Amino acid sequence: MIAPISPRNALTIARIVRVNHAGEFGAIRIYSAQIAVARRFYKDCVPMLSDMLGHEIEHCALFRAAMPTRKSRPCRIMQFWSLGGWLLGFLTALLGRRGIWACTAAVEAAVHRHLDDQLHFLAGKDSELHALILSIREEELAHLDHAEAQLSSGDRFTDALRSIIFLATDVLIWLSTWGDSARMAAALRQAAVQSSRR
Ligand SMILES: [Fe+2]
Ligand SMILES: [Fe+2]
Repeated sequence: MIAPISPRNALTIARIVRVNHAGEFGAIRIYSAQIAVARRFYKDCVPMLSDMLGHEIEHCALFRAAMPTRKSRPCRIMQFWSLGGWLLGFLTALLGRRGIWACTAAVEAAVHRHLDDQLHFLAGKDSELHALILSIREEELAHLDHAEAQLSSGDRFTDALRSIIFLATDVLIWLSTWGDSARMAAALRQAAVQSSRR
């Protein structure tokens, strides 16, 4: 059930679902490209990547299904995520196993940060979406843990790659949502400040 909410909060909720749907779509494209390369060069990575791809397909469908009741629609420029995500997955996979897991760790960390902010905002406003994001976050955390377990800490190349991809993920999300991700983040920050003042 969705509790009565102000038009402003309703708009932020619509943005949350739109941004998440775009992000999941991007993750599908990233993992699809990585699997295409891994099938040829690093077959041992394929089972885990395929598992993660299965989760992202499910997440994407769940956010898509959550859209109509929240008056949200998919981004009009999903091609950005489609091409950008695929290129990100393809290029990092060409760098080898380290590239694959650095990309996964960076993308999942960016996703995780967004989901945490959203959960904070949605508490008491949209319990259904809150529960959905909470269950999805479990799987995203498992993806992040798995990727980090494959990477050795203190490796400068990996650290640099993770920072670049972390940034690239935010840019891709911004482009594919045409700034909606930034507006959503600003609304979440504002709501957090207001609740801390109370
Ligand atoms: Fe996901
Ligand atoms: Fe994920």
